[in-house]
Amino acid sequence: MDREIEATLEALLDERRTFEPPEAFAESAFLNDPAVYSEAERDPDAWWASQAERLDWFQRWDQVLEWKPPHHEWFLGGKLNASHNCLDRHLARDGDRVAYHWIGEPGEKRTITYRALHEEVCRLANALKDMGIRKGDRVAIYLPMIPELPAAMLACARIGAPHSVVFGGFSAESLRDRINDAEAKVLITADGGYRRGDVVPLKANADEAVGQTPSIETVIVVRRTNENVPMQEGRDVDYADLVEQASPECQAEALDSEDMLYILYTSGTTGKPKGILHTTGGYLTGVSATHHLVFDVRPETDVYWCAADIGWVTGHSYIVYGPLANGCTSILYEGAPDFPDKDRWWSIIEEYGVSILYTAPTAIRTFMKWGPQYADKHDLSSLRLLGSVGEPINPEAWIWYQQFIGGGKTPVVDTWWQTETGAIAITPLPGITTLKPGSATKPFPGVFADVLDEQGHPVGRGGGGYLVLKRPIPSMFRTIYKDDARYRETYFGRYGDHIYFPGDGAKLDDDGYFWLLGRVDDVMNIAGHRISTYEVESALVDHPDVAEAAVVGRRHPQEGEAIAAFVTPKATRIGDEELAQELRAHVAKVIGKIARPHSIVFTEDLPKTRSGKIMRRLLRDVAEGRQLGDVTTLQNAPILDEIRSKANSLQGDEA
Ligand code: WTA
Repeated sequence: MDREIEATLEALLDERRTFEPPEAFAESAFLNDPAVYSEAERDPDAWWASQAERLDWFQRWDQVLEWKPPHHEWFLGGKLNASHNCLDRHLARDGDRVAYHWIGEPGEKRTITYRALHEEVCRLANALKDMGIRKGDRVAIYLPMIPELPAAMLACARIGAPHSVVFGGFSAESLRDRINDAEAKVLITADGGYRRGDVVPLKANADEAVGQTPSIETVIVVRRTNENVPMQEGRDVDYADLVEQASPECQAEALDSEDMLYILYTSGTTGKPKGILHTTGGYLTGVSATHHLVFDVRPETDVYWCAADIGWVTGHSYIVYGPLANGCTSILYEGAPDFPDKDRWWSIIEEYGVSILYTAPTAIRTFMKWGPQYADKHDLSSLRLLGSVGEPINPEAWIWYQQFIGGGKTPVVDTWWQTETGAIAITPLPGITTLKPGSATKPFPGVFADVLDEQGHPVGRGGGGYLVLKRPIPSMFRTIYKDDARYRETYFGRYGDHIYFPGDGAKLDDDGYFWLLGRVDDVMNIAGHRISTYEVESALVDHPDVAEAAVVGRRHPQEGEAIAAFVTPKATRIGDEELAQELRAHVAKVIGKIARPHSIVFTEDLPKTRSGKIMRRLLRDVAEGRQLGDVTTLQNAPILDEIRSKANSLQGDEA
């Protein structure tokens, strides 16, 4: 980094550790009276009910919360429809408002109004019904970032068919496993998608997957790249034909508040991803309330951009359901931030007058590395609020974001949440909270968070331990699809049925601010995406020439964590660069490119305890070039020196 910039950042870090809400911002913010916190704390059910009232209910609920730990249900007896809330209810007054400004990576543009999106959704919903899809049937979606993706999700929601969106960067095998777990009847995919100028072969992956998914009856194919892809007679249908032929009128089903809205798979500490199950009323209440209050969104004037991929929960909640429920105008950008050049985002912000930007620290650190000259080329003065999500944001990145993107004037909301919580749970309120760079600050009103020690005692201010939620929130998942035992064990095994354990470490400072410290389980956070060490290990040992493998996350300047693999090849194969390349390709095939190890160290053996358990803790020390921790339980200590000398070359290769 430039000396001068470095000095500026350092000065800011020293002198202005805290940031008050800008006066004008606070004055006009929806929330500017801290009393909201105590009111929500006194009567959380009334607080959440007041948020649920912002939605359109076909029938009002009889009961706000039924909590039978570890399970909870919200707005019982209430009937509503998510697609109706995201579309129909805006039509009379705001039908011509833009829902999405879509920008394709190669440069095409489309403007989709609420009315147009509504019509597309109704047509697709009818087409799904004509195929025999009924309430409760699962639909898998494997699409690039094109408008058909939110349309497909809302078409499912309209008829009560839960969707399972699979990130377009996942492999055929990952897609297959997710389809089979959900037993989806229909797959909606595309011929391909664009990423950094290349075509991602979605249909080819889909074909490979669907060869092993007995539940799939129909594959709907969106034409995106217009490449010639084989269409299987009787199974594959063209999206455009289907939508054109279907009727544009489709009544939204009155669904129960607790009817399933979607399943989204996320990595756990075993090789098998967990199907996180979200229902309708509580989820929509949570995402619309947090989107409204955390981003202080003005649907009439704001242009909002959450730059995540819809394939992850951030996109579900803050590109699709939250913003549309609030009738707001969003940017939907298909591609990479450096295509054709490293100023792509900033040119989009300038062109569309984006006022709110929500992204991940990994992106911010990458922009930092590229330098501020790319943002400087563009007028970013339309920005009035910035958000961060996905991993802990280091104070330097926070300050850089605020200075060089926000022009030193915008609040930055660092929002902590997870696929499981469905919506933001720990966050500043931009009109109230004094910000501290690096801290997600305080629980959102109605969220009861704390930090406990190993024994379950609150650590109190100044202490560190495990983050917990002591009371359910409406947007939280209900269980793991078809695996309630794993739900109980993973999230309530540590402190009992009343206390939700998200898997994150945290500390509380003297002002009671929460500082998130990252995962405490074997889940890595790679560029803001959750990937478990076991998943990557299983993919590695799946290769015929691998005897054994251990994987750890290593701190990485841009991506937060990088995947470091330690691999013992079978005696018949030498661990050389050729094998390393093969293994990277193999992991990409089994999981997806995002899971490819950054570094692979070949070793004759792995450090193990006497009972044969691989000591990942020591490998993490090795990978990060740290002093080794306790080695007394190790059965094969000499191997560590060998691994260490090989791993030394890893340090500094990405500074
Ligand atoms: C991490 C993404 C620190 C955390 C919305 C969590 C964060 C996991 C933050 C969930 C943040 C997310 N500060 N850590 N602001 N936001 N995390 O399910 O470890 O993909 O458990 O949801 O990301 O990742 P997930």
